[in-house]
Amino acid sequence: MFAMLAMSVLPATVLGAADPHSYAEIDKFVVRHVAIDLRTDFEAQRLEGTAELAVEQVDPNAAVLNLDTRGLEISTVHLVERSGRTRVLAFKMADPDPILGSKLSIEFPHCCAATSQMRIRIAYRTSSEASALQWLSPSQTYDAKPYLYSQGQAIHTRSWIPLQDTPSVRVTYEARIRTPADLVAVMSAARVGDPGASPGEFRFEMKQPIPSYLIALAVGDLRFQALGDRTGVWTEPSRLAAAAREFGDLSRMLEAGERMAGPYRWERYDLLVMPRAFAYGGMENPRLSFISPSTVAGDRSLVSVIVHELAHSWSGNLVTNSTWDDFWLNEGFTTYLEHRLVEALYGARRASMEDAIAYQELVQTIKDLEAAGLPGDSALHLDLAGRDPNEGTSDVAYQKGRWFLGFLEERFGRPAFDTFLREYFETHAFRSIDTTTFRAWLLGYLGRPGAPAVTAAEIDEWLYRPGLPATMPQVAEDVFAALDAVAADWRAGRIATAALPVKAWMPQEWVRFLDQQPADLEDAKLAELRSTFKLGADGNAEIALSWLELVIRAQYEPAYPDLERFLLDTGRWRLVETLFRELSRTGSGRALGERIYAKAKPGYHQSIQDAVERLLFPRPEKNGASQ
Ligand code: BES
Ligand code: ZN
Repeated sequence: MFAMLAMSVLPATVLGAADPHSYAEIDKFVVRHVAIDLRTDFEAQRLEGTAELAVEQVDPNAAVLNLDTRGLEISTVHLVERSGRTRVLAFKMADPDPILGSKLSIEFPHCCAATSQMRIRIAYRTSSEASALQWLSPSQTYDAKPYLYSQGQAIHTRSWIPLQDTPSVRVTYEARIRTPADLVAVMSAARVGDPGASPGEFRFEMKQPIPSYLIALAVGDLRFQALGDRTGVWTEPSRLAAAAREFGDLSRMLEAGERMAGPYRWERYDLLVMPRAFAYGGMENPRLSFISPSTVAGDRSLVSVIVHELAHSWSGNLVTNSTWDDFWLNEGFTTYLEHRLVEALYGARRASMEDAIAYQELVQTIKDLEAAGLPGDSALHLDLAGRDPNEGTSDVAYQKGRWFLGFLEERFGRPAFDTFLREYFETHAFRSIDTTTFRAWLLGYLGRPGAPAVTAAEIDEWLYRPGLPATMPQVAEDVFAALDAVAADWRAGRIATAALPVKAWMPQEWVRFLDQQPADLEDAKLAELRSTFKLGADGNAEIALSWLELVIRAQYEPAYPDLERFLLDTGRWRLVETLFRELSRTGSGRALGERIYAKAKPGYHQSIQDAVERLLFPRPEKNGASQ
């Protein structure tokens, strides 16, 4: 244990096991800075230009630099000398691996291998199928203009920038992006220069070192509205007013985040509200979270997504999982912070409702993983070697991770745990760490005088064992006791549908009400719910999701057209994946799912297509490969 503690003073990039999802050999070379100069070609759906990497040579004998790429067409590779003189370098593109993409090997002749800082310029264009990029047609946007965005997490950045695509490496970056003159580019970086000066040309700079999956670009008909000194929102013109209203609490959220987790290290915090096809509820691209329009509910009821993405400014972006096996370090900490911030900003009642709903989902997920022969995936620390790392995205990282920290909070007591959290972020700021490093640091902290009693065995049960551990805290569900009683009375016919007290319900109460309904609920009751409360594909996205899950569970065919419309209208992973998962539970559901997917597929980001196909067309031998 002491050896581990001593190691934690070394640069984060040399800690821990190698990342199984990257060809980078960080004991040989480490990329420190990336400068991209790219032109968007909406016709051909390609980006074209150059990436210049500042590379540090760690091993003086290393003569080959291996980078990650996927589908890139490389035309030339040059070494750029300090004088500006360039020298052609030989390179080799390996055959593509279906998960990792192609290893790009760049050779250094003897003359050139020995400098400690080198600049390598790669000229290339992306494939029209680049897995990070989604090119939207005007009909897929609110204001009928073309749109492009990138989604890097987990290992997609390599499909638009050749680099060391591992979260164990952090880079600063700069960019020049050229777009059609009527479009605007935004990135997860500071804007440089006067954006109006030359239309169609945008410059950016990210001075803080970040992992490659956080390099992000969006191009569209975008406008900005300030919300506070450090905050604002970007979106298409017709959506700007609604978005600004919905997220009016953004500055308060940021201040609450700083009180909880320490100073905000990224200067600005803006939101980009995306078209409906966007792949996630939110993506924590630094300085500029990308947000699904499904969070704009009209009543600020779904802002916990914003709180979540903001919380990643500390857990994830400041302290980063060094491999995808350690994904819980990003999402578990973030979900814990999200809970604490929702409580501070919107009250304990709302926070415990969200906890109770999410806990039910966690229990179901653990059962599903067991049934799928993947019990190992319900441990916090994952073994994703040989698998698509996005397969690790489940409620386990989020909710089991959140409750591990809830368990620690119980043992520490809240004030002491808050101190612990701030020290965690301070100590590991701008580092990438793995589960082993976290464990060692936690044990070290617990060794201090006055620290609470938590044993290594208790910690290891959370980190390395499947299912819920013996020390799982009791999740309070009494916040829903009265509602559950009403639901039972309604089912038993003691309360008429029209007499349900829905006027007083928060969306979270609707979700609970619908989630509690059994598969054998009579069609007559489903029909009454549907017509009385206009349940369908529209309105609050979380209520629609719970309703459509119930429709599938109860095989309520009259509402299938709503289900189809909902799945055609959104590309958001949680909504899409939850419904296709529910459909894939029965033969007839799966058949319906396949029919809907055939239509919906072109509107989904590549990574969401992959996730749906894993559900509809499972390949057990591949899923179980690493078990
Ligand atoms: N970082 C995730 C999104 C993600 C996870 C992208 C894994 C790619 C791979 C983001 O912070 C997230 O968790 N989004 C959630 C919302 C959140 C409130 C749970 C989502 O998209 O639903
Ligand atoms: Zn997250």
